[in-house]
Parts: sequence; structure tokens; C-alpha cells
Amino acid sequence: MQTLINKKILLGVTGGIAAYKSAELVRLLIKAGAEVRVVMTPAAREFVQPLTYQALSGHRVYVDLFDAEADSAMDHIELARWCDLMLVAPASADFLGKMSAGYADNLLLTLCLASRQLVAVAPAMNQQMYANAATAANLEQLSSRGILVWGPDAGEQACGDVGPGRMLEPAHLLTNLEICFKPGKLHGIGILLTAGPTREAIDPVRYISNRSSGKMGYALARAALHEGAEVTLVSGPVSLAPPAGVKMISVESAAEMLDAVMQEVPGSDVFIACAAVSDYRVDQQADHKIKKSTQTMTLDLVPNTDILAAVSALAERPFCVGFAAETRDLEKYALDKLKRKNLDMIAANLVGDGSGGFEADVNRLEVFWDGGEHSIALADKREVAKQLIELIGERYTDALSGNPSKA
Ligand code: C5P
Repeated sequence: MQTLINKKILLGVTGGIAAYKSAELVRLLIKAGAEVRVVMTPAAREFVQPLTYQALSGHRVYVDLFDAEADSAMDHIELARWCDLMLVAPASADFLGKMSAGYADNLLLTLCLASRQLVAVAPAMNQQMYANAATAANLEQLSSRGILVWGPDAGEQACGDVGPGRMLEPAHLLTNLEICFKPGKLHGIGILLTAGPTREAIDPVRYISNRSSGKMGYALARAALHEGAEVTLVSGPVSLAPPAGVKMISVESAAEMLDAVMQEVPGSDVFIACAAVSDYRVDQQADHKIKKSTQTMTLDLVPNTDILAAVSALAERPFCVGFAAETRDLEKYALDKLKRKNLDMIAANLVGDGSGGFEADVNRLEVFWDGGEHSIALADKREVAKQLIELIGERYTDALSGNPSKA
């Protein structure tokens, strides 16, 4: 594989005995044609001298957040923008904890926070520290924010313990980096996605909305990015961090979502409507907060435009994928929507039966298209997203090449 040629890798080294192995990683990266800059935490300096990485990378090593010499050549924060990918190896338990909490009290943590590029971590610590629930929660938190967690390996540790906690070997990390830069199956394909709920204002302080968390849509955005797609994410209000690398458009109401989508449709090859769009909006929004009274109150609701149906009705339309959340008769309703909204695919799931869907971290899907179907078993939404993006990629390619449906 020659995928690392001219790639800019920022290697972060934290305080752990495995820091000496990262020197070998620098050597392998340079040999593979990458450009490498190294940032160390102050604790890392206790294990390996910066000079080692400097000699191997051919560049000065950055350690201090407040550096009087900083720097004619490269502003520190600029390093986060400079790189194509940031890898922290070894990543100590302490560093992972601070990173997951959003600390920025040293240069490397600051860069992790400032980075909009892909970030990977290679944990390395004592097996008991790795087994601790706090570490597991920190890694889960980082992973849910799209940070790649590579390893650890199991085996004999420097402290004499045996178990999981060893940093992956440099050659293994190099392979992972090469895979990251391999052109994905959706390389160059424009994917437009909607996600999350919409909010329909009643008055300046109240609104009608739904329970959509946006997790499925954001996981799809990440999976599509991973496969090399150019992703535009039109999102209703959610409490999730935007995946690094997407073009993000934040909206509130269904009308705003419709406008944003229609602007982005030209240039999009695939449209995935994952948002739980409010079907109705309040007819007359009050200009001021509605006062409480003892009387019954009636709100007049008018239907919102169906964004997905509007896109699929365009003369020049992208490949359209819809979602259907149903509480019963899944297949019947999904097939009806596929036809009625003129879709290329529909991903349907049962909600309200405890098997995933809204707000949950897991989901399972039945995917239908004209002449075919495929089940995606109950799994973490990230895994379900990966499988669905793969399926969409296959169906989209088949549709382009005029292949008949494959079940
Ligand atoms: O008809 P139903 O609302 O169940 O259809 C769900 C699908 O249609 C989802 O893909 C959803 O994102 C999309 N939709 C839309 N605009 C609406 C309502 C639903 O894009 N106003």
C-alpha cells in the first residue's frame, strides 16, 4: 500500500513506557512517505527525549503550550490544521480521561480539542487501569465522538502484569493508518443527510418536537465519511458533536430543513432522509409568550412539506433513501412509503418494542427496495450505520450501472 505518501501525520506521545515504540512508528511512517510532526506531553519527556523524535522526523518536537520561541515556522494551533490525521500513541489512561472531558491544559490536549481532522488513539496502560470502568467509559465517550480507538493488545506488560493494555505494535498502527487513507468505496460521492428532530415553534419559548436523538443520522454521516464520501449533514437540534469533516448545516424547523436540503440537492448524488421531521407546524405562531388560562386551548396545525417526497419528485434527483419508524406492520407500511414517495430504498425499524430506534444506542433495520430486501441485525447504531452505508453504496452503484435489483 502506498497510501501514506505525502500524508501529514501529527503523532502525539503521552507519558507511558510504550513511548519508546513510537520512535519506531515515526521511522516506519517516514519510510512509508509520510510527513510527521511530533507533539509530546510533559510526562512523555520523562520516558523519551524529544531529540529522538526530532532526529527521526526531521522536525522540531513540540511540547509546551506556552513557548517563547513559538514559532515563526508554525503556530501551535496551526499544527491541528496542518495534519491530515492525528494519532496519539501511546495514549495513557490519564490523557484519555482528560481528552474525554475536554481538558486543554497541555499542548497535545489543546490540539486534540482544536482538531477538525480524524483523530485516533492507541491506549497503553496497566491491565488493571484498562479494566477500570472509568477508562472504559472514557474510551466509549471518545469513540462515540468519532475518535478511532486502536487497541490495546493483550500480553505481558512492562510492569510484569499480563492482560489487555499493551499499545499495538508500530507495524500494526502503520497498517491502521494506511487503511485510513485507502480511497473508500464512496470516494468522491456527495451524500446529503438529514438527521435529528425538528422544532415547530408555538410561541417564542415553546415548541412541538419529537424524541429523535440524531444518533442514527450522525452515525450514518460518520460511516459515509469513512468510506470517502463528501458528506453534508442538515441537522435539527441535537446534543451531538458534528462529525469532523462534514459540511454541517444546523436548522430548527421543518421549513428551514427543507430550504437547506433544496439548496444542497444539486451536487448531491445520494440523499438519505434520516430526520424525524415534524409532520405539522403551528398555523399561527404567537409573537409573544402565550399566557396561561383555565380555558381549554386549541392549536391549529398545518402539514409540513414532505422533504423526502419533494426531493424524489425533482426532475434531476439524487438516489433517495428514506426511513420508516413504525409500531406495527413494518413491511407493509415501508413498502407503501417506498412506492408513494418514489424512493430507491427505505430502511424501516419497529419503534416502541424496546429493540432500539428513537433515543436508543442500538437499532435493527429491515431495508427494502424494488425487488429486494436485506435485514441488518440488532447492533450498536455505529455498526448498523456501517452496514447500511455499505448497502446504499452497492445499490447506488447498481442503479448507476443499470443493473437490475439484487435481493
Ligand atoms: O411518512 P413518514 O413521515 O413516516 O416518512 C418518513 C421518511 O420521510 C423519513 O425518511 C423522513 O426523514 C422523511 N420525511 C421528510 N419530511 C417530512 C416527513 C418525513 O423528509 N416532512
